[in-house]
Amino acid sequence: MDVLEAIHTRRTIAKFRPEPIPAETLTELLSAGTWAPNHHLTEPWRFVILGPETQRLLAARFGELKVHKAPTEAAEQRERIRADNERMFLNLPAVVAVAALQEGNEQRRREDYAAVCCAVQNVQLAAWAAGIGMKWSTSPLIRDPLSYRLLSLDPTRFDIIGFLFTGYPAETPTRERRLPLDEVIRTSP
Ligand SMILES: Cc1cc2nc3c(=O)[nH]c(=O)nc-3n(C[C@H](O)[C@H](O)[C@H](O)COP(=O)(O)O)c2cc1C
Repeated sequence: MDVLEAIHTRRTIAKFRPEPIPAETLTELLSAGTWAPNHHLTEPWRFVILGPETQRLLAARFGELKVHKAPTEAAEQRERIRADNERMFLNLPAVVAVAALQEGNEQRRREDYAAVCCAVQNVQLAAWAAGIGMKWSTSPLIRDPLSYRLLSLDPTRFDIIGFLFTGYPAETPTRERRLPLDEVIRTSP
């Protein structure tokens, strides 16, 4: 698959087959992230592959946090939301936390955040070309102190910018809507 085909056909994947992703494959995908452009060669990305214990603890927290978003639901419904989300997270074949170094002045922090976003897209495209799907998830888990503690990330230096839910796709959504090109591309006089 060439780069353009990967760009055009990649979709965010919500449902995964249960097969695990081999560790060396995951490392190879993340290494594609490290070749992203980054100003002043700060290499601001950090990837933490969740081990089973961390995934179990963060799955429980993920479920709890989803319930916080549904405060008006009946207790039974809240418990269903919690349990469904915990199970979903727990059953993900692989999860990678992505953190961005956030040090220095605002310009540097913005550039480093941008670089890590480039890295994530490199990883997503490399994964897609290998038949592996991802969802870039930014649940409240990315700001939760428990995530920083379990992942040994110093919150005064790093922002978790997402969790990459990873696995072989069980379902691939049809192409997402995009604006017509003439709304987003123009040539100045
Ligand atoms: C910074 C960022 C955060 C995202 N967070 C979430 C998320 O928390 N949950 C989710 O379902 N999708 C999330 N997505 C995926 C988008 O919803 C998805 O890219 C969008 O619907 C377009 O679909 P496509 O990726 O298949 O083109 C995120 C994407 C980005 C770039």
